Amino acid sequence: MSHTDKKTPTHIAIIMDGNGRWAQQQGHERTFGHQNGVEAVRSVIEGAGEMGIRYLTLYAFSTENWNRPKEEVEMLMTLLVHSIHNELERLMANHVRLMMTGRINDLPDACRNALEDAIHQTAGNDGLTVILALSYSGRTELTDAVRKIASDCAKGLRNADDIMADDIQHALYHPNIPDPDILIRTGGECRVSNFLLWEIAYTELFFSPIMWPDFRKTHLAEIINAYQNRERRYGKIGEQVREH
Ligand code: IPE
Ligand code: IPE
Ligand code: MG
Repeated sequence: MSHTDKKTPTHIAIIMDGNGRWAQQQGHERTFGHQNGVEAVRSVIEGAGEMGIRYLTLYAFSTENWNRPKEEVEMLMTLLVHSIHNELERLMANHVRLMMTGRINDLPDACRNALEDAIHQTAGNDGLTVILALSYSGRTELTDAVRKIASDCAKGLRNADDIMADDIQHALYHPNIPDPDILIRTGGECRVSNFLLWEIAYTELFFSPIMWPDFRKTHLAEIINAYQNRERRYGKIGEQVREH
């Protein structure tokens, strides 16, 4: 194998940021940016499928986003329901399996119902798995994991001294989904904003200045290409990961 990893990434995670600024730069309301972000989601899902990616996790709404103005939150929840209805047929045609990560019970009933219905309908699809992160934060996920483990300890089902990293992994929302190979954040900010904190331990990070509504599958392809020229060492030295 060459010193670079030409493999297709298995899992890509995206912080879809920059909707509000994109709209405001054009003299529109922030919500106009969210509406236009749907087109970017469509393009990226299509591109990821074409490029043979197995998992695509999209950060759509963080636990902290509940603190935004009420009208913006309500608009985002409505947009979610509409988008699920509008896109379901296309998802089915493209063999996409939809999943969610986050506290689904925080969502308004209409969102939860639309989401559960789409998850159910697409459950048998064998193409790309799209995981929508909704009312998600990395710290919340870890807090929920700690609660599960602590409750097992209290019941005497496990011993605190025996807890290993794998046990924490197993208590996460989706323990069997491989960690992301690539994390992309659009919109120019260079921060993680409470996304997959446990899962990105060895993920390759990419920060794009492009605002989310302008992001397309061609940008995704460029990032995958750059990823394939990086060397992932996982704490070892270059010679060790190159020897095969
Ligand atoms: C990301 O875009 C979408 C959500 C967080 C729901 P923003 O709404 O954060 O857009 P900016 O960062 O303010 O431009
Ligand atoms: C992160 O973006 C969350 C999502 C894209 C859903 P934010 O816009 O909420 O993050 P901060 O506030 O800039 O850190
Ligand atoms: Mg933002």
